[in-house]
Amino acid sequence: MTGRGAIRLESLTKTYGRTTAVDGMDLDVRAGEMITLVGPSGSGKSTVLRLIAGLDRPDRGRVLVDGRDVALVPPHRRAVAMVFQDYALYPHLTALGNLTFGLRVRRVPRAEADRRARTAAERLGIADLLDRHPDEMSGGQRQRVALARALLREPSVYLLDEPLASLDAPLRLATRADLLALHRELGTTTVHVTHDQAEAMTLGDRVVVLDRGRVRQVGPPQQVYDEPADTFVAGFLGSPPMNLVAGGGTLGGRPDVTLGVRPEDLALDAEGPVEATVEVVEALGSEAVLLTRCPDGTRLTVRTGPRPGVRPGDPVRLRPDPDRVHRFDTATGRRR
Ligand SMILES: Nc1ncnc2c1ncn2[C@@H]1O[C@H](COP(=O)(O)OP(=O)(O)OP(=O)(O)O)[C@@H](O)[C@H]1O
Ligand SMILES: [Mg+2]
Repeated sequence: MTGRGAIRLESLTKTYGRTTAVDGMDLDVRAGEMITLVGPSGSGKSTVLRLIAGLDRPDRGRVLVDGRDVALVPPHRRAVAMVFQDYALYPHLTALGNLTFGLRVRRVPRAEADRRARTAAERLGIADLLDRHPDEMSGGQRQRVALARALLREPSVYLLDEPLASLDAPLRLATRADLLALHRELGTTTVHVTHDQAEAMTLGDRVVVLDRGRVRQVGPPQQVYDEPADTFVAGFLGSPPMNLVAGGGTLGGRPDVTLGVRPEDLALDAEGPVEATVEVVEALGSEAVLLTRCPDGTRLTVRTGPRPGVRPGDPVRLRPDPDRVHRFDTATGRRR
């Protein structure tokens, strides 16, 4: 797939009353790219998708698809398929009816529409639910029907708003792999919103971090993780989040510099330079997370192997990986 479904957002702005949901957003999504939007609740992720889909009109700025301003193109003519956060299915239709509805509108013969619907349903593991109505399905099942329906539209752009959020962990993992495989196969431009760290890291060719309607950083996931542009991004991507120590203190440094170190980059080491006391040990099975406190009150989170051999109250020494200490300007939060 080449050259179809490239999206450009130019100074895109949308306000609802006194809330600026999207605030002068510029973004280029390349044709065939899968881009992931992440950000706290209320940061404008769904609004961006609605503006691209044409379900909302921007107050300022433009949406271009393949170089053309789509302001005057109504939603149903935009060759965009959106899966909503709340997976709006037609309640009076069965799953099969929901899947074939769009095909029938496009005059695909019934037998052919049914065949395509069954293929999509099998792909998403819902083939045995085709006779049920939405109110006879679980949230996760409805979500997969909504995904299958979007797949059947064969648009030039997919807009997915947390499409895996109601799935349980194993299904989520499997569907994530399916989405990735499908994207490799179809190469359809996809804008994908997620709260899930693992999804953000694994699904996007690039990840966009939003904060209050503004883009904080855009880049390949590993790059954004390794070199966060500011303290907001540093604290947002990563779980548990990066330790940020303002103005010298425990980790050394100077008052105008905030130092950041991720929990996995702090090692328990009897010779380590940082003194701390263990307050909480969270054993997570495959790893453990230690919440520690330094004599000056600074709290540091440490990620260790599954059996760290320490208990609350134990004194420990920590060694930050010197190549993985991040420096930010304390006043602006920007990376130095
Ligand atoms: N129809 C609306 N009327 C008024 N305010 C709205 C409307 N839609 C969104 N907002 C506001 O705009 C901001 C952005 O909302 P949006 O739904 O885009 O956030 P989000 O990033 O998708 O959040 P979440 O992760 O919770 O889904 C929020 O402050 C929200 O309250
Ligand atoms: Mg949302």
